[in-house]
Amino acid sequence: MKILAIETSCDDSCIALAECSANKFKLISNLISSQVEIHRKWGGVYPTLARREHQKNLTPLLSQTLKNVNVLKNSKSKIQDAKSKELKNILEREKILFKKLSKFLEKSGKPKIDLIAVTIGPGLDPCLWTGVNFARALSYYWDLPIMGINHIEAHIFANDNFSIMNEKKNLPALALIVSGGHTQIVLIKKLGNYRILGETRDDAAGEAFDKIARILGLDYPGGPAIAKEAAKLPMTNHKLLMINDELSINLPRPMLNTKDYDFSFSGLKTAVLYDYKKRTKKEKESKQYIQAMAREAQQAIIDVLIKKTIKAAKDYKVKSIILGGGVTANKELRKQFQQRIEKENSRFELHISSPKYCTDNAAMIAATACFHKTINNQALDNWRNIKALPNLRIS
Ligand code: KG4
Ligand code: ZN
Repeated sequence: MKILAIETSCDDSCIALAECSANKFKLISNLISSQVEIHRKWGGVYPTLARREHQKNLTPLLSQTLKNVNVLKNSKSKIQDAKSKELKNILEREKILFKKLSKFLEKSGKPKIDLIAVTIGPGLDPCLWTGVNFARALSYYWDLPIMGINHIEAHIFANDNFSIMNEKKNLPALALIVSGGHTQIVLIKKLGNYRILGETRDDAAGEAFDKIARILGLDYPGGPAIAKEAAKLPMTNHKLLMINDELSINLPRPMLNTKDYDFSFSGLKTAVLYDYKKRTKKEKESKQYIQAMAREAQQAIIDVLIKKTIKAAKDYKVKSIILGGGVTANKELRKQFQQRIEKENSRFELHISSPKYCTDNAAMIAATACFHKTINNQALDNWRNIKALPNLRIS
């Protein structure tokens, strides 16, 4: 069966198309329209702007995606009044999208698609609704079943060949999901059955990267910007590189030694801000200070993520550790996780996808839908029942 997947939970408009059966998943198309340029000047995602961009992006992405399944007709035919009225109803709050989609549907036939999958949460409310209403409109117009997907679960399913975990070999597993909105350690005893063991009590790790980058005057998104600055320092102990003791930086590792599996990153951001404020103008503007601070902040986040995840992996005697979410695109985090697992005599199998599947994409939404449809036998839904759930939890 062919699955069309839609993801708009944050600032990336994503559409993917995949061929799915119980033992095979083949990605046919995976498109992403990034809004980084739009949000850069705000230093973070501006939800109403993101929603407007999703409205503009989704139809062109759909059109490009469906070229793979020969959907375009040569002639234009007007949408029946009743159908147009219902479409307008569904897209009542997405006027730009309604216009663009109507034009596209007029010149397109029904594509050979069997299921529409869409992220319903967690995420930013206006962004989620745009994707959900878009999916509802297509499901109504083409009379196709629809499936709502949990974004965090999808990050767990994002791996390079989108293969489903082997229950005997890989489970129980532990997933560390670290993104701009979430930092969670999830226990997976059986696929489709999840328990959150710990999570952040305040800022997510990606949010910490973004906020710290902003304090330091670095680019948005902050994660890659901080990683880039940190990598400019040679691999020796960066603290030794500081010109004198006064410039040495020691950031806290919040909750590093607590018995639970929770995180807290807002204190780290505050510590960076205090240190930054006490610096002279000359120090603040020096490359050396920015690079050392970036390295120390990145390392503080890595230290906590690795220690807590390994502790949970040992406590719950898991066989595999899965890393997912935008922050796991971080090279240093990936390297240090690998080194740490080797130190544990590789008693855990580490699963990290290539960076392009760590950040948001719709391929992972299609893969999750494929699992629920073919293996988990989840019932399909009707467009009338699907809604965005910004605070959706995985367990
Ligand atoms: O999963 P994602 O693409 O979107 C959400 O679901 O939030 O994650 C985005 C987050 C941003 O906070 C971004 O700064 C962070 O992932 N990120 C990184 C890197 N690439 C993206 N953080 C650290 N290092 C990176 N290389
Ligand atoms: Zn995400």
